[in-house]
Amino acid sequence: MAFSQPHRPSAGAIPSLIKWTGSKRAQALRIVDLFPSFDRYFEPFLGGGALLYFAGPHASFAGDIYKPLVDFWKQVQTAPGQIIHSYEREWRKLQAGPPGHFYKVRERFNRAPNPFDLCFLTRTCVNGIIRFNDKGHFNNSFHLSRRGMSPDRFAAAVKDWGEKLRHVTFHCGDYEETLSGIRKNDFAYLDPPYAGSRNRYVKNLDQNRLFKVLDRLSTRGTKWALSFDGTRDRVDLRTELPPSLYKRHFLLSSGHSLVKKVLSGNVQEVRESLYLNY
Ligand SMILES: C[S@@+](CC[C@H](N)C(=O)[O-])C[C@H]1O[C@@H](n2cnc3c(N)ncnc32)[C@H](O)[C@@H]1O
Repeated sequence: MAFSQPHRPSAGAIPSLIKWTGSKRAQALRIVDLFPSFDRYFEPFLGGGALLYFAGPHASFAGDIYKPLVDFWKQVQTAPGQIIHSYEREWRKLQAGPPGHFYKVRERFNRAPNPFDLCFLTRTCVNGIIRFNDKGHFNNSFHLSRRGMSPDRFAAAVKDWGEKLRHVTFHCGDYEETLSGIRKNDFAYLDPPYAGSRNRYVKNLDQNRLFKVLDRLSTRGTKWALSFDGTRDRVDLRTELPPSLYKRHFLLSSGHSLVKKVLSGNVQEVRESLYLNY
């Protein structure tokens, strides 16, 4: 069964649930249009899960290595009221005492990482950039000119997403674990972190291992789509995927690179690769 049209919202209609570095929200509609027919959906590098929004009635398996994030997704699925309530409580405290309350939550999160504080921090930190220091502590600052999405809008997003997650099984762990039960007629969308990305809770991605996994999927006849390093301005950041691995390659514009803009003051056009083995 293919992703069916009724489950596709119009452009820009994916409600922003959690902000995540490397989010494919801006490109999601173009990517999903290239999805094939399949039985079950696998997304083993979940992050902010922009593509999971389209999983519809399919049994789906979504995973990420970062536990507070996976716990957040499980909360939205099984206890949305708690995450809504927690966000509203912290948001109100923030309105009464910015920026102090942001830093109080950040300190609490770094002492004891948990899905509620993670969600609040991603919604109120500078440009939603998820950044960790060498000790693995979240270290982005409060976004002074913004005070976070209103609790009403956030509650609506959680409820909307909760509906979409009804058939999803979440897994916290390495992508190979999430993919372990995949079969021929299933489909995997993979969006690994960029080479050199600085999320300190994960080691740099071992590309050779990833290539072997993709090759194994192809050998079994399983279709996959892979988002991968693209081009930034004239600097070609593309890592060559062995040509034998894929059949089609697209460069999708993702707008401006927020990280680059913040760090250097320059705005750069970012284009990201999408490889398909079908
Ligand atoms: C580029 S982000 C995914 C973004 C997502 N597509 C979105 O739209 O928000 C990559 C994710 O892979 C996760 N990750 C990194 N290494 C991993 C591994 N070995 N296994 C599973 N997940 C991993 C990171 O925690 C991060 O959330």
